[in-house]
Amino acid sequence: MINNAGIVERISLEQLDFDSIRRQFEVNALGPLRLTHALLPHLHRGSKIILMTSRMASIDDNTSGGSYGYRMSKVALSMAGKSLSIDLKPQGIAVAILHPGLVQTRMTAFTDSGITPAQSVTGLLARIDQLNLDHTGTFWHANGQILPW
Ligand SMILES: NC(=O)c1ccc[n+]([C@@H]2O[C@H](COP(=O)([O-])OP(=O)(O)OC[C@H]3O[C@@H](n4cnc5c(N)ncnc54)[C@H](OP(=O)(O)O)[C@@H]3O)[C@@H](O)[C@H]2O)c1
Repeated sequence: MINNAGIVERISLEQLDFDSIRRQFEVNALGPLRLTHALLPHLHRGSKIILMTSRMASIDDNTSGGSYGYRMSKVALSMAGKSLSIDLKPQGIAVAILHPGLVQTRMTAFTDSGITPAQSVTGLLARIDQLNLDHTGTFWHANGQILPW
């Protein structure tokens, strides 16, 4: 099960918009948890749950500030993923918290500095194949690097 949907609304400290922050929490954090919970009866031993987070959710890696709603909501998603990984391990269901890389999509205005969706998906699929109960709950870059929380 791949929870991929997400939104970004860039918010600076000077222009804090709490409705926008709340909206990003709804879509980026609560949505995936809600959907995962709803679909749990259909998952079984050997199933895998993927949460698409972002490197921008890394507290250690935050060197540029800003993006309050996006960063905060994706950190909340990571925490949900960690708890899911612990709660679902006895049922044999593994969870990965994945960063797709900087990817040329609508979200990034198809930035020239990004990788293509095909390149990103190749890495993501490798991580999903690699995922097992021994490292459930890991925060990975699509390229295989383990990211700091
Ligand atoms: N692109 C990057 O560099 C990058 C980097 C880090 C993390 N990510 C994460 O990767 C995931 C995919 O992002 P992307 O780059 O593909 O973004 P995107 O081009 O903006 O696409 C976002 C997708 O999410 C769907 N979506 C948004 N809100 C939704 C909602 N409320 N209900 C159902 N679907 C919804 C959109 O559906 P519609 O088309 O119907 O609007 C669209 O298919 C996101 O979780 C994002 O945070 C992306």
